Amino acid sequence: MERKTIGVGVISLGWMGRLHTRSYRALKERFQDLGAEVRLVAAADEQEAVCEEAVSALGFERSYRDYKELLADPDVDIVSICSPNYLHHEMALAAAAAGKPFWIEKPMGVSAAQSKEIAEAAGAAGLVTAVGFNYRHTPAIQRARQLIRDGRLGRITNVRCWLIADYASSPTGPLTWRHSIDKCGHGVLGDLLSHGADLVQYLVGRIEAVTATTAQFITERPIPTKIGVGHSGWEVSDEMGPVENEDLVAVLAKLEGGVFATLESSRIAVGPRAEYIIEVYGTEGSLRWNFEHLNDLEVCIGRDQEFQGYTRVMAGPEFPGFTTFQPGAGTSMGFDDMKAIEASLFIRSVLSGEQLAPSVSDCWAAAEIDEAAVRSADDVQWHLLPEVTVRITFRV
Ligand SMILES: NC(=O)c1ccc[n+]([C@@H]2O[C@H](COP(=O)([O-])OP(=O)(O)OC[C@H]3O[C@@H](n4cnc5c(N)ncnc54)[C@H](O)[C@@H]3O)[C@@H](O)[C@H]2O)c1
Repeated sequence: MERKTIGVGVISLGWMGRLHTRSYRALKERFQDLGAEVRLVAAADEQEAVCEEAVSALGFERSYRDYKELLADPDVDIVSICSPNYLHHEMALAAAAAGKPFWIEKPMGVSAAQSKEIAEAAGAAGLVTAVGFNYRHTPAIQRARQLIRDGRLGRITNVRCWLIADYASSPTGPLTWRHSIDKCGHGVLGDLLSHGADLVQYLVGRIEAVTATTAQFITERPIPTKIGVGHSGWEVSDEMGPVENEDLVAVLAKLEGGVFATLESSRIAVGPRAEYIIEVYGTEGSLRWNFEHLNDLEVCIGRDQEFQGYTRVMAGPEFPGFTTFQPGAGTSMGFDDMKAIEASLFIRSVLSGEQLAPSVSDCWAAAEIDEAAVRSADDVQWHLLPEVTVRITFRV
């Protein structure tokens, strides 16, 4: 088979940028049928030390302090955009203007308006995209989707989804970009609930209307003296600054077909660490998936079993995508593996011109849900969601 070489640029090498980089590196071994080699051409980060590390340790040929130079590099064919949210909009619009397909992290900008503009820019440029809705890709979620689509749960009645984390539970934890309206937009809504909104829509159907409430409990935090990666490695001063966005959210949602869902999220829980659970109920059965045990799926189908209730099924070779990573049933996959699948879907989309990865439209749809939840928390009303689709004539 003739193999193409695709030059990759990764913008911002924090938690996600490093993970995108590892995912591209995993492709050669894990997805030998891709029909393409991925070449790590360039990284861009505003921190000089990170730019040096990109070349000395992470496998990039070169690095830039300014992402615009990366986009102008003729060897860069496609890009990952892994910056804090407030930079997504200008970076994605610049990538679209340069005609470079992009894989962007959620929540894709700081507002639904920015998400819409990013999605429309990709559509107008005829670009395939990918977004970081990684939880979709686990073999257990893929199997759950098959069961739902095959009607094994009967008619779906309701969904419960919660994403409860502890990453901001300590009041002495740093005031990061995630606590700023200008730099992050919404708080836990964009950060975590957007994943839940996407999972609900991916597994069950379109959310048509929401009503919601939000709350903030930690109102100020220490200002950092040293930037970390993701939620770790930050150092702080004694000086405090204001937290500007919500710590908690609860949403009641109406889906197409009379289904309803509850979605809940917190970043300040003491107990659950990353308890991201989705439960789907139908007239003939139900299922439950928990990210903290991502290889398991709990399933109950029918009323006539000897031992009624959930059976915990462990992922194995019969689950979609499992053998790409492990040849033996019950052997765990991890977070990095989900992202490697996302990278493979992005590359397959780029090669075929068919949108196979979660798309900018999916991310824009989640952003509209986040924003409607905030409006509802303000005015105590139900809010209808707009239909979100971007018509794209893909260029291969
Ligand atoms: N899909 C997921 O599960 C998931 C998980 C975590 C984060 N995210 C998303 O990924 C994105 C990044 O989050 P993170 O935790 O990796 O951030 P991070 O704080 O770890 O890293 C941010 C990086 O951006 C760099 N940066 C800042 N300004 C820059 C500029 N002008 N040009 C280039 N680089 C710049 C910083 O130097 C840093 O290296 C966010 O949108 C976040 O919501 C997604």
